[in-house]
Amino acid sequence: MNIIHRPEWSIPEREATPEDVFFNRRRFMKGVGAVGLGLAAGGTGLMSSAFAQDGKDPTLNLYPARRNAEFTLKRKITPESVTSVYNNFYEFGSHKRIFGAAQALKIRPWAITIDGMVDNPQTIEFDDLVRKIPLQERVYRHRCVEAWAMAVPWTGFPLAELVKYAGPQNSARYIRFETFKDAEVASGQRQFWYPWPYIEGVTIDEAMNELAFVATGIYSKPLLKQYGAPVRLVMPWKYGFKSIKSIVKMTLTDQRPVSFWEKVGPGEYGFWANVNPKVPHARWSQATERLLGTDERVPTQLFNGYAEQVAHLYKGLEGQNLYR
Ligand code: MTE
Repeated sequence: MNIIHRPEWSIPEREATPEDVFFNRRRFMKGVGAVGLGLAAGGTGLMSSAFAQDGKDPTLNLYPARRNAEFTLKRKITPESVTSVYNNFYEFGSHKRIFGAAQALKIRPWAITIDGMVDNPQTIEFDDLVRKIPLQERVYRHRCVEAWAMAVPWTGFPLAELVKYAGPQNSARYIRFETFKDAEVASGQRQFWYPWPYIEGVTIDEAMNELAFVATGIYSKPLLKQYGAPVRLVMPWKYGFKSIKSIVKMTLTDQRPVSFWEKVGPGEYGFWANVNPKVPHARWSQATERLLGTDERVPTQLFNGYAEQVAHLYKGLEGQNLYR
């Protein structure tokens, strides 16, 4: 694999920019210069850009949604001021400060195509879909393969509900998800060496698991663009790259999808990508994780702490690379 093709994850965690450096605004501004910060914020600065809400968002009245008490955490919620300026969204650049560039994404109109082995194939406007299934709020841990972690309140609905809505046929075994492709607005997609669009996949059994979630909001409001507006996946027991952002297509299939990162680095990223502290990444340990916004490093948990809910999904598959 050519080094230029590698994601930022390829650098060991100890060499990644530490949080305190990142959040030191003077160095930050000096470091990234004109990378669209002023552009997105209209010159009003970092934080106003990070929190920019699309004033015309037609789903605002659906928030806040009822919090589902079954999905809470002992871990403290990571502040929005931290997570909204530290994102992976390679469509807008292969670094963490993409929130400014991401504001170029047009999230209305936004249609989602549901096709493949389904009884109800269709292309549906997001604003219609989001009103078909009641929204709820869940607090989940999120663990990036780069060994940073956060805990955030997502708003959305179970993926199982969307699968039922699609009408899965018996032959379907996997779901393939696809992100938008528009190199005009997504500067990262001009990096021709990446296999755009971003693709991810899960099994139908994983999709039907109670934890698999379709997020339309975070922090009790619609998703900001940098989080993958208007709709993304959240698979909290898997490394974060499985949680595909800004979805435009969902295909039920009998073929196992080959994901974006699997294509980029097949020796390092696979289909299952379940979190496991005992299975290191090819070039760094997964034993611990750094909690965003703090100086804390804590032990990584098997299936990111969700083993009770998901371990059974992998019985009989032990021969496969379940943890990368
Ligand atoms: N989805 C798309 N389309 N493009 C991406 O680059 N990055 C993934 C995932 N979904 C990514 C994506 C990775 S590596 C992680 S860790 C999470 O999004 C980050 O989500 P966050 O920025 O909301 O924390």
